[in-house]
Amino acid sequence: FIYPLFVHEEGSEAIPIASMPGCMRHTAESLLAEVESALAVGVSSVVLFPKVPEARKTQGAEECFHPEGLVPVVIRSLKERWPELCVVTDVALDPYSSDGHDGLVAPDGRVLNDETVALLCKQALTQAEAGADVIAPSDMMDGRIAAIRDALDGAGHTEVSILSYCAKYASAFYGPFRDALDSAPRGGDKKTYQMDPANAREALREVALDEAEGADMLMVKPAGPYLDVIRRVREATTLPIAAYQVSGEYACLKAAAQQGWLDERKVVLESLISIRRAGADVILSYFAKQAAG
Ligand code: PBG
Repeated sequence: FIYPLFVHEEGSEAIPIASMPGCMRHTAESLLAEVESALAVGVSSVVLFPKVPEARKTQGAEECFHPEGLVPVVIRSLKERWPELCVVTDVALDPYSSDGHDGLVAPDGRVLNDETVALLCKQALTQAEAGADVIAPSDMMDGRIAAIRDALDGAGHTEVSILSYCAKYASAFYGPFRDALDSAPRGGDKKTYQMDPANAREALREVALDEAEGADMLMVKPAGPYLDVIRRVREATTLPIAAYQVSGEYACLKAAAQQGWLDERKVVLESLISIRRAGADVILSYFAKQAAG
């Protein structure tokens, strides 16, 4: 498992996420307690998602490579306490962008691929400098895996690996996540860079590109509604495959369980086993701690 965790800096309290019952947006301190309890049940990898205060969001998303930003500060505190913890970081501009897009937005509304890739490299380097073990670009720009690999190697971070969000679909199942981080696009949608849910073959083109560019691990996202894609990707590469059971998948299962309509323990384990059966070696899930326990 890789356990996704939300973190914010304003206020002193952790905040429950309404559309994800049981999940919190953590403070830097409450995050440590959550990681400790995850480690206690054998979950030793986490991925961090920040909520950046509105005032620090800009069109250029410069906060994403600030060495004293929330993510680098949290990485350092985690690695100081648990050097063996595997810290995975998200690379994309959406939490830092006043446009709420994963890339830079031109005045005409287009998302600028190559200009974005240069920024993603700076973001990845900042995270690696802070001690991240695995860089996970979720932005879906073209050419970013090769560029980030070059940037990391050029700065001596040859040991830092890249988990590519390889087949990431333009999914409505990301809704609760965007609520949790207030990161929904302010205009338009993400369909010019995320994939069309109707298209399975495109996933195989993304696999070929990311593999050639030097990714260490490939991800399919969402997981449950895309089990066929996990299987096809599994058969198209020898790299390890990760699958992300996203916020909306979590919300569906939790809501039905809370109503007493489904047996939570059984459906959660069945959903995870299905993702594994489809071919995932690694699962990102908000149920990680619960399921491991
Ligand atoms: C953004 C990002 C998203 C998720 C992970 N990274 C949302 C999006 O693409 O809009 C979604 C995760 C989830 O729904 O649990 N780069």
